[in-house]
Amino acid sequence: MPETSEKKTIFSGIQPTGVFTLGNYIGAIRNWGPLQDEYNCIYSIVDMHAITVRQEPAKLRQNTLQAYALLLACGIDPKRSIAFIQSHNPNHAELSWILSCSTQFGELSRMTQFKAKSQQHADDINAGLFTYPVLMAADILAYNADLVPIGADQKQHLELARNIAGRFNQKYGDFFTVPEPFIPKAGARVMSLQDPAKKMSKSDENPNACIFILDDKDTIIRKFKRAVTDSDAEVCYREGKDGINNLMTIYSVMTGKSLDEITSEFSGKGYGDFKLAVGEAVADHLEPVRTEFSKLVKDKDYLKECYTAGAEAAGRITRKTLSKVYRKVGFVDAR
Ligand code: TYM
Repeated sequence: MPETSEKKTIFSGIQPTGVFTLGNYIGAIRNWGPLQDEYNCIYSIVDMHAITVRQEPAKLRQNTLQAYALLLACGIDPKRSIAFIQSHNPNHAELSWILSCSTQFGELSRMTQFKAKSQQHADDINAGLFTYPVLMAADILAYNADLVPIGADQKQHLELARNIAGRFNQKYGDFFTVPEPFIPKAGARVMSLQDPAKKMSKSDENPNACIFILDDKDTIIRKFKRAVTDSDAEVCYREGKDGINNLMTIYSVMTGKSLDEITSEFSGKGYGDFKLAVGEAVADHLEPVRTEFSKLVKDKDYLKECYTAGAEAAGRITRKTLSKVYRKVGFVDAR
């Protein structure tokens, strides 16, 4: 990727806390590949974010490598984008410290994800969990990213990153690009298959609530067959039909069909036929990802070559940002 060009810059990240879900895929990663032609894209497996909740070290290492292979399997081309592992570029953590001095305690306290995770992990409400959004702001601002493709649940964090950038610019003079969120119109919030009032999440205790993108076809179809819906039998998108609305959104994204087209396709048919069709569409869509992943994950040398080159390219950009930031805040030049 050329480091100086007129193209706008995209940054996004994903945590390596297990196999990506259909929510991660539809809300975020699916959109990352197609952006590679038009933008300078930088994508990261954010392992430093992952340790804000307890991780088993050996498992985290394995999950991080697996997540990197999955990223490539989902169409991120390490020759066209910068794809790297966050901890390989220490500049994120360094910038995070500086930015934390332009972030208010009160605004971090208002983060809904912090409140939710504090409840989920009540025995480990560590400072990293609290300052997590500052590290996320550093991820983005270190590259002066213009756009950040994310699902709806990250919107509040992005808003905070914008505020931090604005505050820094006010204190020290215009410097950071204030990033815009890039949230898909359909599928920004894929819901749990077992409780459609909750978002689909890796950490759901019910394995039927969540589709993992490496699930095999039978598993995917079985989970969709068990999806919680409602007691009428009309496939149409309407308030109060959260389960069906979720399945229709998923089917629409997978097939490119509009909600009206889906309603006509299933008029007169029952939910059973519809759920089967959704399951098949998802499984067929994900099949090439699974195939590509199984090839890539075996090739550890290739993966290493890619993530090493990615971290070098990322570091070249962020070192420049960081040295300008150090100068702006008044640190003495090291040499
Ligand atoms: P993470 O790892 O939780 O999720 C990765 C991406 O998937 C999206 N997502 C969803 N979209 C729709 N429906 C769902 N059910 C669903 N679940 C997850 C998320 O919105 C996200 O876009 N803090 C971030 C990672 C991060 C980051 C960044 C993102 C760290 N630094 C800088 C953007 C820019 C996170 O935990 O995402």
